Amino acid sequence: MENIYQHRQSVLRSLLQTSSLDLIALNPGPSLYYLTGLDFHLMERPILFLFSKKTTPIIILPLLEKSKINQLPFAVKAITYGEDPRAWRAEIQKNTAALDDTEFSRIGVEETQFRFLELEFLRSVFPNREISSCQNLIAKLRINKDEFEKAFIKQAVLIAETALTNTLPLVKLGISEQELASELVIQLIRCGSDAQLPFYPIVASGENAANPHATPTDRKIQFGDALVIDWGARHHGYISDLTRTFVIGKATQEFEEIYRVVQQANNFGCQSVMPGIQAGDVDRIVRQVISNAGYGEYFPHRTGHGIGLEAHEEPYIRSDNTQILQAGMAFTIEPGIYIPQKWGVRIEDNIFVTNNNVELLSSITRDLVIL
Ligand code: CO
Repeated sequence: MENIYQHRQSVLRSLLQTSSLDLIALNPGPSLYYLTGLDFHLMERPILFLFSKKTTPIIILPLLEKSKINQLPFAVKAITYGEDPRAWRAEIQKNTAALDDTEFSRIGVEETQFRFLELEFLRSVFPNREISSCQNLIAKLRINKDEFEKAFIKQAVLIAETALTNTLPLVKLGISEQELASELVIQLIRCGSDAQLPFYPIVASGENAANPHATPTDRKIQFGDALVIDWGARHHGYISDLTRTFVIGKATQEFEEIYRVVQQANNFGCQSVMPGIQAGDVDRIVRQVISNAGYGEYFPHRTGHGIGLEAHEEPYIRSDNTQILQAGMAFTIEPGIYIPQKWGVRIEDNIFVTNNNVELLSSITRDLVIL
């Protein structure tokens, strides 16, 4: 029986058969983890995983990391190098000489992950090869989540929701955004998140909430503030990404109205998703609710993004994206309305497309909560 990594590698191999690339070169990061379960720090010593259509995968790594690959559940050829960077190239070329044939004429790398360091290293070991992006190929592979990946995302959602529930009692007049954010981080770890959070939480109050990507500041919570919290957890590498907006003490009529519009946009968005619909159509449906209410210009970002081993990955729920949403895809629906200098509202949920339907992974209330 194939194990999960052998399975993923054989899917990649079959994708490579129909691609113009001969070999994929990965450095440490989510895709390497996905294909091998290997988790290395990105550092100054290059690590390369070379995956070709035909031969056994090769991993080039520093000798001191070799113990990590002792018991891998798939075949790999390891090539190690010592501590002297001047000797790396010769050491590796000696071992790769046998592979240095026409099979490797076109190499694919991940454009948003591969660094200049690895690129130069790759070029020196395999000169005169054509190097291009394999981003689409890798996205095709990772966009299709299995039941285990779904369960991990679901657990990441549960951890995030519990952590927020444990943090909310601390919200009171005079506490700062940064104090709340740090408590939320502690709670996320305490509730079982992997130590590496998908991102540092956004805790934005009052006029800071009008900035969709605000960073927590020392601003203290005041009566009448909107409070936007955008946070997530990670479980076995897989992330959740949620947002809720609260109001402190009392909501104005205008705030309540805008909140209702965002809530309805979120609801319509989640309801509209089904296997076979285009990502762009979901964005249009959500955007329509907001523009019909007269706030179109205050919704400056896309409706959502894929989630998985990364906090932003395919599919992107953007009006120009004609990609068909299919079973196995996981993404956010996160409409928002931001009134400059005043406040903002965003409600973000995580959903998973199944064979004939869609599963809402987040369950924390979307109704306006006054703290
Ligand atoms: Co998000």
